[in-house]
Amino acid sequence: MKDKNLFLIGMMGSWKSTIGRKLAKALNLEFIDTDDAIEEVTEMKVADIFREFGEDKFREMETAFFIEKAKQPGQVISTGGGIVLGAETRQVLRENGTTFLLNASPTTLANRIHNTKKRPLLTDSKNLEGRLQKIWNERSQLYKECAHHIIKTDELEPSQVLDEILKILEVSSADH
Ligand code: S3P
Repeated sequence: MKDKNLFLIGMMGSWKSTIGRKLAKALNLEFIDTDDAIEEVTEMKVADIFREFGEDKFREMETAFFIEKAKQPGQVISTGGGIVLGAETRQVLRENGTTFLLNASPTTLANRIHNTKKRPLLTDSKNLEGRLQKIWNERSQLYKECAHHIIKTDELEPSQVLDEILKILEVSSADH
């Protein structure tokens, strides 16, 4: 496992960070959360970066950070929901490791998201579920294009999602 990366992708609220942290611990790999790392490097919150510099600038930072980090193996990387928007990042997700798409319906995601202030794409939304559905419609193909495995999490607890990922990894390493 140390010779490759594990990437978690999915919509906001899909538990990428929660599961990523658990997965890294279970496999004794380094854990990186791209949003947290960008906040640390810039000493700014993601919402403030969007407000002061705009979404395009955030995407530039996110892309540069992710591509650089993903060159090194042996990490679990939980990504921001928009990581699949760039062709370059999609290529890295496909080629530099194993990518898991954590999937959940807009209703499930809306129930899991408590603080929209932290998520600039949702902040002004009166209809959270509708907004998430729209974003999913725009991105679903991109997510699926990058994912080596898709895990539906609506009916699961985080520990069960972790177990599913570990099971998939066991099976695929036994294949080699
Ligand atoms: C975004 C998701 C956020 C964060 C930013 C944009 C998106 O990350 O990167 O607010 O475009 O889906 P999470 O998916 O971790 O909430």
